[in-house]
Amino acid sequence: MTIKQIGKVKTPKFIQTIESILKPLEFFDGCAKTYGELFFTNSIGTQEILVVSHPQDLQELFNPKNNILYAPGAANEIFKPLLGENSLIVQDGERHQKQRKLMMPPFHGEQMLMYGQEICKITQQVAQSLKRNQTFIARHLSEDITMRIILKVVFGINEGLRFDKLKKLMTTWLGLTSSALSASVLLFPPLRKDLGTWSPWGRFLRLRQEIDDLLMAEILERRQQVKSNNFNILSLLIQAQYEDGEAMSDVELRDNLLTLLNAGHETTATAIAWALYWIHQQPEVYEKVLHELQGLNTLDPLKIAQLPYLTAVCQETLRIYPVVLSTFPRVTLRAVNLRGYHVASGTYVTPCIYLTHWREDLYPQPDKFQPERFINRKYSSYEFWPFGGGSRQCLGQVFAMFEMKLVLATILLNYRLKLEEKAPVTPARRGFLLGPQGGVKMSLTLDTIH
Ligand code: HEM
Repeated sequence: MTIKQIGKVKTPKFIQTIESILKPLEFFDGCAKTYGELFFTNSIGTQEILVVSHPQDLQELFNPKNNILYAPGAANEIFKPLLGENSLIVQDGERHQKQRKLMMPPFHGEQMLMYGQEICKITQQVAQSLKRNQTFIARHLSEDITMRIILKVVFGINEGLRFDKLKKLMTTWLGLTSSALSASVLLFPPLRKDLGTWSPWGRFLRLRQEIDDLLMAEILERRQQVKSNNFNILSLLIQAQYEDGEAMSDVELRDNLLTLLNAGHETTATAIAWALYWIHQQPEVYEKVLHELQGLNTLDPLKIAQLPYLTAVCQETLRIYPVVLSTFPRVTLRAVNLRGYHVASGTYVTPCIYLTHWREDLYPQPDKFQPERFINRKYSSYEFWPFGGGSRQCLGQVFAMFEMKLVLATILLNYRLKLEEKAPVTPARRGFLLGPQGGVKMSLTLDTIH
């Protein structure tokens, strides 16, 4: 068989970097158009990176039996100052697998269903603060909801002084990484200079210290009373044990709480804001989803989570503009042949979720929001994969889908909202994520629709 050559993006490196940061979708589309379904870029870091998105390549690479891809923790080094040395995201190999195994159970199965009522209650509490006929930003609303959900359901902190303090500190702290300018302070180690409270890095360090202190106080207190309070993820993590009988240390717990907050807060909030946009942008989608919700005779979170049309709306939301465009970097452990292309051992790979989700052969008219695609066809996990794949696949994916559906159901069943955008909302980079430009302007027209 003749070996085909993989194209390399020829634009100068600094232009690739700027384009991939400022206009990521145009960058990927342009590369795919010129170089095809497999190409090398050198947009980030010093390494050439292979961008893959063809479902057949993803299947070959991610299939655990093939054991081709390694997810190096060192490739995520830039997250260390943000999340700490013990974060799951900066681990690899055996330690990564052990930590994942320990952290997985609270995010799955029956355990997760316990959080359902709490998620609906928090959504109600936050949505109640909306004022009739006043414009609000959907992303602010969803961020407030998902932050409270993390603090209450994941951390298990009850409302009070520590809850309010942590919420305020964490909102400010996460805000520091959401603009391209401040994220660059984190991305480029030479810019990390502590020049006092007014310098971005100095401010970042002080905030992190304050958050660390509050989290440590909470962890120590909860170790004392863990048995009486185990409907939250922190209590379950405190009790969990590795195979050798060891439990997570205090600093491991702290770093991983911050990891869950960072990985789970803005991602889900962005997805909810997009979903609210699409639902209200297309009256027929709104009517269908509301009709399905109103058909339920009991508002059981489990029943809501199983609704087919609501599920399809959430899937299509994550398909059309995936909140995370590409997975964490991977490295090939051995040479591999991908549809006739030779990929050497030791190649850095970035699987691109966005390019798969915009394939015409899988999703005709990919720019159209059509939840029915997911009703009419079952997509494989190499065709629809907003949560990544393989050994570093999103730990919170079941939780995130559950949360999205419950938040949307609670809002749609209780409030009548209106889109206040005059033109179609376009996607824009927000730190490491892709979200709706401006956050989606909406207003409340009726308090209740019953
Ligand atoms: C719509 C919401 C979300 C999206 C789109 C999303 C997407 C992703 C993606 C693409 C990855 C990288 C996967 C890879 O490299 O293959 C990831 C990793 C991760 N996500 Fe999520 N995520 C979401 C919500 C959450 C939530 C709610 C949590 C937890 C509370 C969470 C926790 C994590 C963690 C801990 C990792 C790192 C896993 C590891 O390193 O082993 N995510 N997520």
